[in-house]
Amino acid sequence: MNISEDLDKIRSAFEAATEESFSADDIGKLRVAFLGRKGIIADLFDRIKDVAPEDRKAYGRDLNELKTFVTARIEQHETLIEARRPKEHIDVTLPGIHNFQGSLHPLTIILNEIIDVFRGMGFTVETGPEAELISYNFDKLNTPFWHPARDLTDTFYLDTPGRDKLLRTETSPVQIRVMERKKPPIRIIAPGRVYRSDKPDATHSPIFMQVEGLYVDKGVSFADLKGTVLAFYRGLFGPDVKTRFRPHFFPFTEPSAEVDMTCIFCKGNGCRLCKQSGWLEMGGSGMVDPNVLTGVGIDPEEYSGWAFGLGIERIAILKYGVDDIRLFYENDIRFLRQFG
Ligand code: DAH
Repeated sequence: MNISEDLDKIRSAFEAATEESFSADDIGKLRVAFLGRKGIIADLFDRIKDVAPEDRKAYGRDLNELKTFVTARIEQHETLIEARRPKEHIDVTLPGIHNFQGSLHPLTIILNEIIDVFRGMGFTVETGPEAELISYNFDKLNTPFWHPARDLTDTFYLDTPGRDKLLRTETSPVQIRVMERKKPPIRIIAPGRVYRSDKPDATHSPIFMQVEGLYVDKGVSFADLKGTVLAFYRGLFGPDVKTRFRPHFFPFTEPSAEVDMTCIFCKGNGCRLCKQSGWLEMGGSGMVDPNVLTGVGIDPEEYSGWAFGLGIERIAILKYGVDDIRLFYENDIRFLRQFG
């Protein structure tokens, strides 16, 4: 039999097979069968030696032509099948993958607002250590040794080697640290955590936050204090807020006053929150005691100053309508997510 006739048959068989090949898998098998190293075409090349010498040239030409044809046809099919392959499709009705976004803690949000309002009035922010020297927390603040705030039942004393430290009970020691370092004019706030040995309940937490304020310069008066505190609360709660100053006692100020703000819930008419008084207690304030100024090397004959220490949770509770201070420290994620 003429070996060239074989080539024609093989070509027909190949064409028939391509008609039956619909998938990438089919075409892959066809490629291996015809073009593989041990495939049909390779076998036909091996058979050149069996062809009569005078026919070899024609056989070689026909075989090469067949190989080119098979290769081109397979590639064509591969391209077609690839083009028909269904493209990946997206089911837009599937629920999305949830990415939980963190949020600032409510006390941080309030703190940032507080800092904003005071920055607007020219105050800078200072900080001090929470593990504070007893002398800064009490002595330098003119607090006598017999003062009840020093009591073990009220204060967390630390078991440090010198037994000279406690967890600060107020942010006021930052006043001392700043006045020891800087000369007047001084105009700072010092927000931060403070600690008292209180049993936790809806209105008490052994850890809470205050913002201290201090202004020392020539001719600073109680009127400046009142104006600044009023501007601060109006900055946070709006222009209708009023404040009042009630005479009080603090060791480091003279005169001293407690600061009240009109109840934002009843607008001063009296409700459960303000115990029908129309006023809410926000913190303490006063004119810096001359003893304190002298202690830090500032001449009370030349300079005067005022200071305040205001509760931060109180502000957060009012702003967010939270009815339990402990929520700020339990960090229940369901509570915190509401501030995102
Ligand atoms: N340190 C006081 C307290 O925690 C609050 C206070 C009162 C701070 C008067 C002051 C001030 O700076 O002048 O109760």
